[in-house]
Amino acid sequence: MSKKEISRRTFLNYMLTGTGGFLAAGMTVPLLRFAVDPALKGDGAAGDMVPVTTVDKLTNEPQRFDFKVKTTDGWYKTETPLSAWVYKEGDNVIALSPVCKHLGCTVQWNTEAQFQEEFYCPCHGGRYEKNGKNIPNTPPTAPLDVYAYEVKDGKLYLGKAQPNPVGGA
Ligand code: FES
Repeated sequence: MSKKEISRRTFLNYMLTGTGGFLAAGMTVPLLRFAVDPALKGDGAAGDMVPVTTVDKLTNEPQRFDFKVKTTDGWYKTETPLSAWVYKEGDNVIALSPVCKHLGCTVQWNTEAQFQEEFYCPCHGGRYEKNGKNIPNTPPTAPLDVYAYEVKDGKLYLGKAQPNPVGGA
């Protein structure tokens, strides 16, 4: 049985190739993971339900609740503050977006003496009924959006705002 000898040059080549490959893999794997990871995770919290309040706090009078929605877009994470006017109607929960459908100001509930039991937009006098339906001959041309909701373990969760099924006036 013959003993195979390797030259000093061959040995150095093996050592340098092995060490270089090890270092290259050590740098490449984290870089690839950094580049690809957000794409694999999708768009993060989009469409998620956010806890807003407990159901026992709700009445048949609209109350304003503020909450935050976390959004992840790739590596960019944001927290968007939102509000909802929420009330109960029987077993149903109505959660209205406060964003006026005219030019986007924030509507208030029952603040104007001459417009009782209505949402009122102070920017241009937009008015809405309690269910969010816009009142004819005021600037808004569509009803306030409604948030998707679910109730779990006594808590109210809100999702995305969507067109109000009451329809526009
Ligand atoms: S923005 Fe609300 S009425 Fe114009």
